[in-house]
Amino acid sequence: MKRDELLGWLREADPARLEELFRRADAVRRERVGDGVHLRGLVEVSNHCRRGCAYCGVRAANRDLARYRMDADEVLVAARRARDLGCGTAVLQAGEDPGLSAAWVAGVMRRIKAETGLAVTLSLGEREDRELRLWREAGADRYLLRFETSNRRLYDRIHPPIPGRRSDRLSLLRRLRAMGYETGSGVMVGIPGQTFEDLADDLEWFRHLDLDMIGIGPFVPHPATPLGCPALAASGPEQVPATATAACVVVALARLVCPLANIPATTALDAIAGRRGWELGLVRGANVVMPNLTPLSYRALYEIYPGKEALRDTEAGGGPGARERVLALGRTVAAGPGASGARAARRAAAGPDERAARGDACLHCH
Ligand code: 5AD
Repeated sequence: MKRDELLGWLREADPARLEELFRRADAVRRERVGDGVHLRGLVEVSNHCRRGCAYCGVRAANRDLARYRMDADEVLVAARRARDLGCGTAVLQAGEDPGLSAAWVAGVMRRIKAETGLAVTLSLGEREDRELRLWREAGADRYLLRFETSNRRLYDRIHPPIPGRRSDRLSLLRRLRAMGYETGSGVMVGIPGQTFEDLADDLEWFRHLDLDMIGIGPFVPHPATPLGCPALAASGPEQVPATATAACVVVALARLVCPLANIPATTALDAIAGRRGWELGLVRGANVVMPNLTPLSYRALYEIYPGKEALRDTEAGGGPGARERVLALGRTVAAGPGASGARAARRAAAGPDERAARGDACLHCH
């Protein structure tokens, strides 16, 4: 899809025309990745964070927030629960927390893999290459790091760097890919100051990076953050609205530009769409949901934006869980780890030399 066409859809305001886009994305989703929805069990391991992202409720400067770090046994309990619920993957997510040592993460991950057989996705922020390499060697399958916006000026405005270290997530994503990770990224939709042109660039980056996973959610203002003040809310004809529909348009376009990617219907979409956001995402291009398996006592403290979690355990019978919601749409729950089809296609296209150079195949096997 050409840039003009992307921009046309991003600016489209006619609901009937948007239905046409959503139908197209749903058809491509069905044809390319099927009706199976992958469940990824999300475990929010720590809400400590050394960063100061201007939108995020767990930013270091939010001194009112009680901080927690799960211990290894608690993580294992959550991972077993993920397996019992039919998840093929455990996603370990946290703030950028140096207190989660590289060795501790590697150890927990080894235990999860040995005791549950689940694939493991890490989402632990911008960590050192040597740590990322260690985790990969310890068996991590995937890494998620949203680049949030490809507009460098906007990015810099909302992501104060660690002194002396330039944050460059696009190049980090390339290095993650080179280390052999399935690589996931994504953006928020409706960041104050974000334009439709910016989102068209973001979509071109999704394609360019050939992402394995793409997470897209609406920006949700958090009152304890610099971007949380309603008086600051940006406006103007080029400002992207932070709505469920705008987020769904980006999900649908992401499906069209990266047809084989794993694309979740995100928690942020669910939160702003009155807990119907998974359903909206799943019929507009998404094929993954991430039920939250963080223990309830910690879940309330992982408040990256308000209203993120109903403070009841839907998976334990407090409401329809992920499986029921997927089945109610006439879709199925996919079995297995749910590896990226984009990665398989890349591998098939690469010659044996390239595969061997990457270290994922032996030349003699071809
Ligand atoms: N609104 C929406 N999404 C947010 N995230 C963090 N803070 C917010 C917010 N206020 C998203 C970021 C991050 C992911 C884990 O959560 O995109 O990458």
